[in-house]
Amino acid sequence: MNNNNTIGFIGAGNMAYALISGLIEGGYSPNNIKASDASKDVLSLRNNQFNLEVFTDNLKLASACDVIVLAVKPQILSSVCKEIASITEHNTLFISIAAGIRSVDINRWLGGKASIVRAMPNTPALLGKGASGVYANELVSEKQRNLSKKILDSVGISFWVDDELMLDAVTALSGSGPAYFFLMVESMAKAGVALGLDNDTAQLLSIQTALGASMMASNSEGTTPQQLRANVTSPNGTTQAAINSFQDQNFEMIVSHAMRAAFERARVIGSELGEDE
Ligand SMILES: NC(=O)c1ccc[n+]([C@@H]2O[C@H](COP(=O)([O-])OP(=O)(O)OC[C@H]3O[C@@H](n4cnc5c(N)ncnc54)[C@H](OP(=O)(O)O)[C@@H]3O)[C@@H](O)[C@H]2O)c1
Repeated sequence: MNNNNTIGFIGAGNMAYALISGLIEGGYSPNNIKASDASKDVLSLRNNQFNLEVFTDNLKLASACDVIVLAVKPQILSSVCKEIASITEHNTLFISIAAGIRSVDINRWLGGKASIVRAMPNTPALLGKGASGVYANELVSEKQRNLSKKILDSVGISFWVDDELMLDAVTALSGSGPAYFFLMVESMAKAGVALGLDNDTAQLLSIQTALGASMMASNSEGTTPQQLRANVTSPNGTTQAAINSFQDQNFEMIVSHAMRAAFERARVIGSELGEDE
C-alpha cells in the first residue's frame, strides 16, 4: 500500500480501531494515520495503542489528511460532513463506513464535489474477518479506488458494487448476516438442551460446529457448500433426516424472506437517514 497517503479517521471507536489495527499490521506507518473523536478518553486510548496523532477538532484533522474515513454513527454523519465541507476543494477522498447513508446525501453535505467511497463492512471486521461491499461515486479516481480497497481489505475481504443499491443487498447478506448465524447457533444449542445436553455443553458444541463448518466452507476451494453438505449427508442417515425436516419447512424460503425484509428495511433507513434536519 502506498504509505505516503495520510489517512484520517473521524470517529475513533470500534470500527476505526479495527481498521487502524489492520492497516498497521499490514505495514502502514502509524505516522501517516491520524484520528479525531468527540471523546478525549477514546483519543488518548488510540494514542497509547498506536502512537497516532489525535485531534479534538475534525476540521483540523481533515485539513491534514488525503483520505478521510468517516467512522461516526450514521445519525451524526451529516453534522460532521458539514463541519469539514470546506476541505473538498483539496481532492480529498472520503470513505464512509456509516451504515445506510447514501453517497448522494454525503456528497450534498460535503458541498457537492466530493470523491466518495461508501463501504458496508460487518462486525467480524473487528477480528480481521470482515466482509465489505464497496461503492465509489463517479469522482473517485482509479488510484483512490485501489487505496480504498486496500484499507477495507486490511480487515477482511471486500467487493466493489457498480450499483449503490446493491449495498442494501450486501447489508441484507453480510451486514446483518452475523446475526443470522448467531440465531442458528442459539437455536441449535437450545435444541441440544431439549434433547438432554446440559446448557454449557450444548453452547460449546454449537459454537465449535459453526466455526468448523465455516472454516471447511472457506478452506475448501473448488468445493461448493452444497457439495460439502452432500459429502456429509449419507442416504437415510441422521443428517439426511434433519435436512429433510428443514426442507419440509421450506428453509430456503424462510432465509430468502428474511433477507428480503432486511433489504427493504435498509432502503427505508437509507432514505430516512439521508434527510436534512
Ligand atoms: N461496528 C460494526 O460492526 C459496524 C459495521 C458496519 C458499519 N459500521 C458503521 O461504522 C460506524 C462507526 O461504528 P462504531 O461501531 O465504530 O461506533 P463507535 O464505537 O460508537 O465509534 C464512533 C465514535 O465517534 C465518536 N463521535 C461522536 N460524535 C463525534 C463527532 N462529532 N466527531 C468525531 N467523533 C465523534 C464517538 O464518541 P462518543 O461515544 O463520545 O459519542 C465514538 O467514539 C457507524 O456509522 C456504523 O454504522 C459499524
